[in-house]
Amino acid sequence: MKISVIGAGNVGASTALFLAQQRLGNIVLIDVIEGMPQGKALDMAEAGPVNRYESHLAGSCSFEDMDSSNIVVITAGLPRKPGMTRMDLLTKNAEIVTSVTRHIARLAPQAIIIVVTNPLDVMAYVAWKTSGFPKQRIVGMAGVLDSTRFRYFVAAELNVSVEDTQAMVLGGHGDSMVPLPRYTTVSGVPITQLLPQDKVDKLVDRTRKGGTEIVNLLKTGSAYYAPAASVALIVEAIVTDKERLLPASALLDGEYGLKDVFVGVPVILGQDGVEKIIELDLSPSEKEALHKSAADVSEGINDWKKMVQ
Ligand code: NAI
Ligand code: 2OP
Repeated sequence: MKISVIGAGNVGASTALFLAQQRLGNIVLIDVIEGMPQGKALDMAEAGPVNRYESHLAGSCSFEDMDSSNIVVITAGLPRKPGMTRMDLLTKNAEIVTSVTRHIARLAPQAIIIVVTNPLDVMAYVAWKTSGFPKQRIVGMAGVLDSTRFRYFVAAELNVSVEDTQAMVLGGHGDSMVPLPRYTTVSGVPITQLLPQDKVDKLVDRTRKGGTEIVNLLKTGSAYYAPAASVALIVEAIVTDKERLLPASALLDGEYGLKDVFVGVPVILGQDGVEKIIELDLSPSEKEALHKSAADVSEGINDWKKMVQ
């Protein structure tokens, strides 16, 4: 397996390290900053003898080096900084994702693309449109991150092992995301049976604001360890054809009553990418929240469409 990670910043470099540690394939780390991806890749490779991984790791500033990749992870782009509007991020990152995706379509036309760059669901749509790839081969990473945060908060609140927590978060990767307490469990027991409603509401709220909580602490950028671990989980599901059921941003074509929008839903991930979208039985309020979140994403998609018209 050849896995290229585009963008060797915080998320990209951490992703490359986790992929190497999990021995998921040969990794190429690409960035536009001369020397930086080469230096980071060499540094990671030098940790191999101690950490016992043999993965071939290379850094490069040439997109040509992603040639024939099986999987390409796009982390290139600006992270959120104080004072930046959502539109600023969208405009700049759409340009970057478009340019990167054109390289992928030319050099790795059979690849599965995992999009990480924000605003996530809109960037997944941009990658889908500009690559011309079938929808199954574009996976937006957000739901795994949002649900691992939810799992961690539940474990901390109940003082149980994180291993026993499962969580489901749907919708766009933004303030209107939809954590689903009914589908969030400790070893199969819904948290709605384990915690009073006000505690559940607090965990839901903290999950929605999970990214902002880290930005406010770091001040100079956004989260990267949990995001990178989440990307590695998706890569593992694809590389090992595990048929995992995970939340990810996928193109909807009528599922959940939504069309022409990437939004977080439970999907089956395997060697072909998004192999199936699972439609959960949602209550009227859960469905309304999902539609509101999808409407927020559609607004961003329409902004992008106006930009490129
Ligand atoms: P960063 O600033 O540390 O790294 C971004 C890297 O992209 C930089 O090294 C930059 O040189 C590179 N880059 C810019 N244009 C490029 C191009 N055309 N080709 C190749 N590389 C290019 O940012 P960080 O923290 O790694 O975040 C990256 C993106 O991921 C941001 O948009 C951030 O908002 C997003 N993100 C998304 C998450 C999600 O859940 N989907 C979670 C965390 C971050
Ligand atoms: C996060 O949720 C910034 O989207 C990123 O941490």
